[in-house]
Amino acid sequence: MSKEYDILIIGSGIAGLMYALKVSRLGKVAIITKKNRMDTSTNYAQGGIASVFSKTDSFENHIQDTLRVGCGLSNPTVVKKAVESGPKFIKELAALGVDFTHRRGIFDLGREGGHSHKRVVHSADHTGRNIESALLTALARRKNIDLYENHTAIDIITQYHAGRDIPRSGPSCFGMYVYDNRHDKVEIFSARLTMLATGGAGYVYQHTTNPDIATGDGVAMAYRAGAKIANLEFVQFHPTRLYSSEEEPFLITEAVRGEGGRLISTDGSRFMEGRHEMKELAPRDVVARAIDMILKQTGDEHVYLDISHRGRGFIEERFPTIMNKCLSIGIDPAVEPIPVVPAAHYFCGGVMANLTGNTSIKYLLAAGEVSCTGMHGANRLASNSLLEAVVYADYASKWTIKNFRHIKKRRMLSIPNWDESGVFDHKEWVVVSHDLQTIRSLMWNYVGIVRSNTRLKNALDRCNLVRRHIKKFYRQNPVTTEVLRLRNIADVAVMLIRSALERRESRGLHYNLDYPKADNKKFRRNTVIQKHFNKD
Ligand code: FAD
Ligand code: SIN
Repeated sequence: MSKEYDILIIGSGIAGLMYALKVSRLGKVAIITKKNRMDTSTNYAQGGIASVFSKTDSFENHIQDTLRVGCGLSNPTVVKKAVESGPKFIKELAALGVDFTHRRGIFDLGREGGHSHKRVVHSADHTGRNIESALLTALARRKNIDLYENHTAIDIITQYHAGRDIPRSGPSCFGMYVYDNRHDKVEIFSARLTMLATGGAGYVYQHTTNPDIATGDGVAMAYRAGAKIANLEFVQFHPTRLYSSEEEPFLITEAVRGEGGRLISTDGSRFMEGRHEMKELAPRDVVARAIDMILKQTGDEHVYLDISHRGRGFIEERFPTIMNKCLSIGIDPAVEPIPVVPAAHYFCGGVMANLTGNTSIKYLLAAGEVSCTGMHGANRLASNSLLEAVVYADYASKWTIKNFRHIKKRRMLSIPNWDESGVFDHKEWVVVSHDLQTIRSLMWNYVGIVRSNTRLKNALDRCNLVRRHIKKFYRQNPVTTEVLRLRNIADVAVMLIRSALERRESRGLHYNLDYPKADNKKFRRNTVIQKHFNKD
């Protein structure tokens, strides 16, 4: 039960698809994705992609905004390269069929938090949907690419699985064990080169803007295989998720504030005035913390975002998706404010990747939200993540093309089939959903926007307990998507809390009441976690 490919890509979001398009001519390529091909965070992106197109803007402005928001942890070389190649990649996406909004023949540019200039290229408020469908349409025209939906990667195959010692130089990747969700079987996808493009981990938190595929699988799998993981404590909370009783999350893009939207508390006061010179367009951590404080002080469940003064015509044209969504739940943004709350949105940390997309595991690349490249540092500038994803898909593809002759010739190992002996159904599945809720709510309540040592230690003890429990359950029971999800979420939660405890300061998205200031002497560095080769 083994499928053999030259290149295996995990994930069908912007990072995985862009990389696939660029390497498809090299050989046999497979993309696996754990639900439907469109089930990605990319598909829900609203605001757009940050890039310099305005005559009054400059690369230097974009670079400085990114570095300032990154609070001293972004890598200036990475930022400079990414920002300067932005316009090229926007044009490339447009050529692939992404229908960006134009005004008088040029890109219409939105403004978002932390940006000193208007520079967010967008397709109304459904940029991600247009990108995802354009890339999938382009992909359908390529030969050599097999796309497997409803296939969940379980673990990265290294020497360890072939019964070999991990060499001193570190592990190598030989492909993945993959669970075919529909046919309930585990297969080997053997590959000479693997690209991890599994997206973020917002679903680790009870309240998130992310779809339920965002469970940190890539970070958890890479950690288990011995990769270096960095900066997981930097979780970005988006200030304005729609407050509603519906389970499906829905974002109210920051571009609404860029178009003049005002944040008001339930007593009608415009609370960002006097808190930051950029008011509602302050960086996200500042706005999210202000809302968090107001909710804690007042006991209210939400604040409001008011764009009604821009009038119905404008809102319908600029924000059609938001208008329709709000109307569907009985809120009319043209005449009343929209109730909003902060929610976990983006992971700045992840699997460490260098400027060629290579990770610390040989023949394993990473791009997109799963990776930590040095672009975002301690906080991400709005709309810089789609940019980072296309830039790194491109770097990785260039490295792949340059080294493909050598990659093609590498010696592969014989990998044993998945072993389910000794496994039987304990029929205790209720604990899986209960444990999932426990972790998600612990993370929200103790490891959220504002942290403290007591809360973090408490959360670590309890998450470790659940993690031990799920590890045992995983070994004794047949594979299911629910168990795989919980196993990954538990691993990510524990790593995130360990990173947060290690950073004894406040910087960017990590705010700890016990150390309210940044400590540049000790902590102007990445927090790196690495397991020592499959022994944990
Ligand atoms: P994704 O698009 O999330 O794709 C991940 C893929 O990996 C999916 O196909 C998933 O099924 C697959 N996968 C995961 N685990 C497994 C597994 N174990 N096995 C198989 N497949 C797996 N950023 C911006 O720059 N601008 C914006 O306007 C913007 N708006 C956003 C709005 C929302 C609501 C959200 C949630 C995010 C937004 N972001 C925005 C962030 C940005 O969309 C994401 O960071 C980016 O799309 C991530 O792309 P990706 O390719 O890395 O991952
Ligand atoms: C938004 O549209 O507010 C999200 C943009 C982003 O996450 O970069």
